[in-house]
Amino acid sequence: MARQKTIYTCQQCGFQSPKWMGRCPDCQQWNSLVEEHPLPTSSNSRSLAEPGKPLKLSEVSGREEDRLSSGLAEFDRTLGGGVVPGSLILVGGDPGIGKSTLLLQAFAQLAQNGTALYVTAEESARQVKLRAERLGVKADNLYLLAETSLAQIKQRIKELQPAFLVIDSIQTIFCDSLDSAPGSVSQVRECTGQLMIQAKGDGLPTFLVGHVTKDGSIAGPRVLEHMVDTVLYFEGSGGHPYRILRAVKNRFGSTNEIGVFEMQEQGLREVGNPSELFLAERPEHTAGSAVVAALEGSRPILVELQALVSGSSFGTPQRTAIGIDHKRVALLVAILEKKVELSLAGQDIFLNVAGGVRLDEPAVDLAAIAALASSHLNRVINPHMVMFGEVGLTGEVRAVSQPELRVKEAARLGFTHCILPQGNLKNIDIPKSIELIGVSHASQALEHIFM
Ligand code: TYD
Ligand code: MG
Repeated sequence: MARQKTIYTCQQCGFQSPKWMGRCPDCQQWNSLVEEHPLPTSSNSRSLAEPGKPLKLSEVSGREEDRLSSGLAEFDRTLGGGVVPGSLILVGGDPGIGKSTLLLQAFAQLAQNGTALYVTAEESARQVKLRAERLGVKADNLYLLAETSLAQIKQRIKELQPAFLVIDSIQTIFCDSLDSAPGSVSQVRECTGQLMIQAKGDGLPTFLVGHVTKDGSIAGPRVLEHMVDTVLYFEGSGGHPYRILRAVKNRFGSTNEIGVFEMQEQGLREVGNPSELFLAERPEHTAGSAVVAALEGSRPILVELQALVSGSSFGTPQRTAIGIDHKRVALLVAILEKKVELSLAGQDIFLNVAGGVRLDEPAVDLAAIAALASSHLNRVINPHMVMFGEVGLTGEVRAVSQPELRVKEAARLGFTHCILPQGNLKNIDIPKSIELIGVSHASQALEHIFM
């Protein structure tokens, strides 16, 4: 009898090695390699249902209107305009953030276009039913299946022939032919592989719910993220009712597109006007608060940045940033010291993006500098002023993308002044209600912002 092959797989990143090691050489995690017995035939050798044949690009069918709407505009927007037939979509997020709620609400709507199957591998069908009652979801075409065996699930899919499928969650289902536990990298990979073949072969849009590990990535991250078409993250910070659905990978649309929701008693409510929501609790006439016109995907949102600069009582001052890259903040502080000549040495510095949003674009720089300077000088920024612009290492203010969209959103919300990079002033067509002030250096911006 042939000796059974043994392979060691890292449960963190999916790295495989023929011998055991204490530390994964790929992701540097300690003690993460687990012994596994791979199948004689790997799932990679199986091909999609139909044998491939070269087709002219023009012969391939598939149009924009093939997308199906989920009835939740924010969900559709994040997907790139609706659900594409045959796509495999991973929805990740912290436990309790609302993934099951979101998918149940979306599926109640999708079920109006055809039969939808919700496989609940974590909760009982009764629990899901109770939640559906709370959400006021009524859908005749929505089926629930409480099952964890992949073979059984596939059998039921064959019988029911659903038009949409959710697996909640991918880490709790298992494939009989593997002896490793559900949730291990090889199980997750094998199950996802089989579901992918089914999705592509039958054109069945499949949503997978994925758990997030301690360090914030989806368990079995690289293997999973590479296999699926779209990766959505459902984020939100504890205590805030706002939830942001963000596309981090999308083969059928733009990434960085976001959908904004608010978690309420009756489930998730779409927030069509996120700027209004993020600015609702803004303290006016207080030093340290600045409003930035940021861009998330194709959508402008106005967000408040808050800074607190205060004398440190310890030798090493603290630098804390929430919702914005802390390295970027350190850089902006250095620019303020050297190029704007504000002395921030020995000061504790805190910078926070209000509402639990995360801002990653450089256009936020100018507002961050304004908020820091405002707090340090204890001077209030004009509450009707909004700003955006990237700040370079010499303190120069650089042009950013889509200035018109940003200015229009600010004007729509009643702002009367906008500070923007001089380079963005060309060919800009804007409403009369807002006055534009072009600046080319950070210190020039500070001359205009205070009341
Ligand atoms: P859930 O969808 O179960 O989260 P996940 O599947 O991501 O683990 O959502 C659970 C949380 O959502 C729970 O803490 C309660 C809250 N919630 C509401 O506030 N209102 C509601 O109507 C529902 C259904 C949940
Ligand atoms: Mg859940």
